[in-house]
Amino acid sequence: MTTAYLAADGFADQLQEELRRAGCDGARRHERLLVCEGPAVAAAWAANIWHDCVELPVESTGSAAKALRDIQRNWVMYAPLHHRRAALIQDRLPHVSAKPVVFPARAPTAPLGSWTLLAPDRLLAAARCSSPFANGEVAFVEDRTGPPNRAYLKLWEGLVRLGRWPGPGERCLDLGASPGGWTWVLARLGAEVIAVDKAPLDARVAAMPGVAWRGESAFALEPESVGAIDWLFSDIACYPARLLRLVERWRSSGRVRNFVCTLKFQGATDHDAAAAFAAIPGAQVLHLHHNKHELTFLLMGPSKGAMAGDRP
Ligand SMILES: C[S@@+](CC[C@H](N)C(=O)[O-])C[C@H]1O[C@@H](n2cnc3c(N)ncnc32)[C@H](O)[C@@H]1O
Repeated sequence: MTTAYLAADGFADQLQEELRRAGCDGARRHERLLVCEGPAVAAAWAANIWHDCVELPVESTGSAAKALRDIQRNWVMYAPLHHRRAALIQDRLPHVSAKPVVFPARAPTAPLGSWTLLAPDRLLAAARCSSPFANGEVAFVEDRTGPPNRAYLKLWEGLVRLGRWPGPGERCLDLGASPGGWTWVLARLGAEVIAVDKAPLDARVAAMPGVAWRGESAFALEPESVGAIDWLFSDIACYPARLLRLVERWRSSGRVRNFVCTLKFQGATDHDAAAAFAAIPGAQVLHLHHNKHELTFLLMGPSKGAMAGDRP
């Protein structure tokens, strides 16, 4: 069994180290694509994981396109090399729509395969991939006037990947909220937001219905002082190991249902901290298309009513 991992753009070294730690030594590297023998392992730095890859001979561009079409309809090309020949194959495949997403929306569910030319006469293809988006890249119809910065895009992407987002009446804690891109997303969804940051929110975000700002350190905030929370968000600029302690404190309080947190790396990547987040039962740790030198931790908890401190 062969699995290929497409590194997030600029993060192939992080992915290679992550795979090495998971026991996948000796990956063949095809630019950003790392090809390993064995079943897939969790790989946060992969923008897309290609499961059960097959190698096909390419006698002609027409026969290669037919071989792919015989497997399934939708294919996306990754062509860092041999692009002319690859483009001739892609031209013979059905068009796959990649319209920018209008948030909120669920990710597409139609199977989307990936393929590349390893050599002019050799193609690697996977009908089943981890990302619903072409090469893991998602574009949104952006809002260029509402939010105070572009941080809202990575939250949109995380919520689309979850397939869930806060709704009216849900209580959200937004830690490291200033200037308010994430708070803007949550308030627009109709949620109640407690935005925590020593720095103030953008005045227009602060004035949105349901938004309350607390000018405190997120690390000093006691869960008991906040009550039951449906979603804890964090985009705090801090070391991932410190964020892990904060997340563990809130998890053990039993007062938070769902978590969406950015792990930010300054300088070297802290692979141990990323692995500790990934080891939390039920967690997903992903490099989103809109992340920089960051990962996003997603954890969905029990349904409403099953939490300590739930309101009736
Ligand atoms: C990347 S910015 C957050 C951007 C925000 N999510 C948005 O959408 O506009 C990181 C924030 O973390 C905040 N921060 C750093 N240390 C903090 C702490 N101990 N408690 C709360 N916020 C903190 C900074 O003040 C900064 O506003």
